[in-house]
Amino acid sequence: MARLIERPYVTLSCAMSIDGYLDGDPPRRLAMSNAADFDRVDEVRAGHDAIMVGASTVRRDDPRLLVRSAARRLRRIEAGMPASPAKVTVTSSGDLPRAAAFFTAGDVDRYVYAPAGRARRLRSRIAGAATVVGLGEHVTMAAVLDDLAGRGIRSLMVEGGGQLLTQFLAEDVVDELQLVIAPFFVGQSRAPRVVGPGAFPWTAARRAPLAETRRLGDVVLLRYALSARFERPAPARDGRVRELAAAGAQ
Ligand SMILES: NC(=O)c1ccc[n+]([C@@H]2O[C@H](COP(=O)([O-])OP(=O)(O)OC[C@H]3O[C@@H](n4cnc5c(N)ncnc54)[C@H](OP(=O)(O)O)[C@@H]3O)[C@@H](O)[C@H]2O)c1
Repeated sequence: MARLIERPYVTLSCAMSIDGYLDGDPPRRLAMSNAADFDRVDEVRAGHDAIMVGASTVRRDDPRLLVRSAARRLRRIEAGMPASPAKVTVTSSGDLPRAAAFFTAGDVDRYVYAPAGRARRLRSRIAGAATVVGLGEHVTMAAVLDDLAGRGIRSLMVEGGGQLLTQFLAEDVVDELQLVIAPFFVGQSRAPRVVGPGAFPWTAARRAPLAETRRLGDVVLLRYALSARFERPAPARDGRVRELAAAGAQ
């Protein structure tokens, strides 16, 4: 079927150790970023319509996925947007705790994607807490994006973990990668890697364009432009987001 609505602008955002891990060996949890970078991430969150994490990240980190800064929430509200972006996750097991902050924190729209065969049971288990969307036998990130576009989501920030980052990159549906490198090694073989194996579009023969490097205290941010939409005034990023950016600069 032809795709009639433009897919949301996709920003991948994550922080990894020097040796390419997203976290420590379970159950250890590591803070990769520093305060300055957490604040930068908050600004990026405030500029998107939705935030997505994988079900393992929901279970393990229990993130709230809300805009932390009151001033940024206010700016969004003044621009006619919800205080925080919508929340999105994906699961095939259906193992999502109803008490998770994903469901309980904030007054925002929530979407849970799952294979169609799993969706019905999940719908009855988390009734009212989120919109459960069944997407065929196997959920692809492209299908998630198409569905989100149909729901009016024009920009999506993907915060991990590694399984999600791997799929978005391998499906070549990412506009921008924001990669932060933390100044330490993890060195544990069972710790989650930033990405797993995959047929990525960016190879030694097709290098990803590096658009920006920025030092934030002891971490460094690398921004890669992975599509022609990078920073262009696309429908996903114009209007409200630019208004917000302008307000933030004041
Ligand atoms: N440093 C950072 O920036 C950062 C950011 C986020 C997370 N993390 C860390 O990353 C780790 C988790 O990463 P992870 O790679 O293990 O997991 P993940 O990507 O967070 O989630 C993987 C899970 O998502 C679901 N899923 C993924 N793709 C799916 C698909 N196509 N269809 C259906 N379900 C799908 C599955 O859930 P089910 O198992 O329910 O089927 C899968 O087990 C945690 O340690 C977290 O702290 C770090």
